[in-house]
Amino acid sequence: MISGKKILLCVSGGIAVYKAAALTSKLVQAGAVVKVLMSQSAKQFVTPLTFQTLSRNEVHDDTFAENNPKVVAHIDLADWADIVVIAPATANIIGKIANGIADDMITTTLLATVAPVVVAPAMNVHMYEHPAVQKNMKTLQTFGYTFIEPDEGFLACGYVGKGRLAEPEDIVQQLSEFVKSRESKPLLHKKIIVTAGPTQEKLDPVRFFTNHSSGKMGFAIAEVAARLGADVTLVAGPTSLSASPTIRRVNVTTAEDMYHAVIDEFATSDIIIKSAAVADYRPKQSDDKKMKKQTGPLILEFERTKDILQELGQRKQPNQLLVGFAAETNDVEAYAIEKLERKNLDVIIANDITAPGAGFQVDTNRVTIMTKDKEKIVLPQLSKTEVAEEIMKVIIDLMAGDNK
Ligand code: CTP
Repeated sequence: MISGKKILLCVSGGIAVYKAAALTSKLVQAGAVVKVLMSQSAKQFVTPLTFQTLSRNEVHDDTFAENNPKVVAHIDLADWADIVVIAPATANIIGKIANGIADDMITTTLLATVAPVVVAPAMNVHMYEHPAVQKNMKTLQTFGYTFIEPDEGFLACGYVGKGRLAEPEDIVQQLSEFVKSRESKPLLHKKIIVTAGPTQEKLDPVRFFTNHSSGKMGFAIAEVAARLGADVTLVAGPTSLSASPTIRRVNVTTAEDMYHAVIDEFATSDIIIKSAAVADYRPKQSDDKKMKKQTGPLILEFERTKDILQELGQRKQPNQLLVGFAAETNDVEAYAIEKLERKNLDVIIANDITAPGAGFQVDTNRVTIMTKDKEKIVLPQLSKTEVAEEIMKVIIDLMAGDNK
């Protein structure tokens, strides 16, 4: 899994630096391209020449060396890396990065990178167990950093306990698993809201206005997003469908309920997919007593519900991606493009609900995916799960392109 991967190995200063040399060799043998950064203390244990020879790349240890005037070294290396590995990670480097300190080549590069970071700590057992170190490691976990636990055993300082740098072959193995799980879960750490199903707008205790939406399309999107690693909140109107336990489900009835459920989660979400068929109107008056029939016709007055998607489009931040649906019976693409622009969306999924194998209740759909960059993907009739997979592919590409 790590063959061809660009690995930036940050070596901080502890006796386990000698193992980092073996790690460099094993990574190169596994086909990775390795560049090494060293702290000043790391150089007390092993010389940069060892790492340069093993990695066949220049070793960087000074933020201000700047040997290549065409680039700023720490930014260039931060952008270059597919994965950053800190091994060994001392208590000092863990403390510095947990607190955003950037005072050398390793720490400035770490602040500048958006690549995933894997940390392999190594230190005395009491240092490892110290509340300050434990707190700093927890902080790094909240940044999305992944840890390769140190081994237990004889420590160079004479103690026996937890703190030995994991063996180089174990680190290579765990990195390989890390890459595999990231590649199969491209939406890991992304928070997604999916809305699904119809809404019901009450007239009286026995009657309501609704539509034919089954929720199947939205539920399929939620399942596929969860499978791809996303943290999914499914805001569902009344439907008999069930969702996997990994999906957080919020049940709503009316358009107003859906509005509040979505707005509550919106600010902290990365992606919002509004597949629900929200009522555009609700009865102006609803009664707690059953309405009795009268002679002659019944005339009801309706009022507009809030357009949730429109409001999200106004509130949207540059790092958020907003996806809407346009279920139409005619002039599908023209209406969809108009909605995409009016509601400030990134993507719109247009479907002609009158087409065979498309629309409400059925297990298949036939959609066209359109993006704000005028990309247009016309899909054939597919199962709703396959449609969901195609939609997620477009979203993942957009996220990668925009660096969202
Ligand atoms: N939508 C919404 N809130 C509403 C109505 C619709 O968030 N009150 C969302 C739907 O979830 C869908 C998109 O808006 O993603 C398109 O819904 P639609 O009702 O077709 O669009 P409208 O803009 O209301 O257009 P029209 O009624 O003219 O077709």
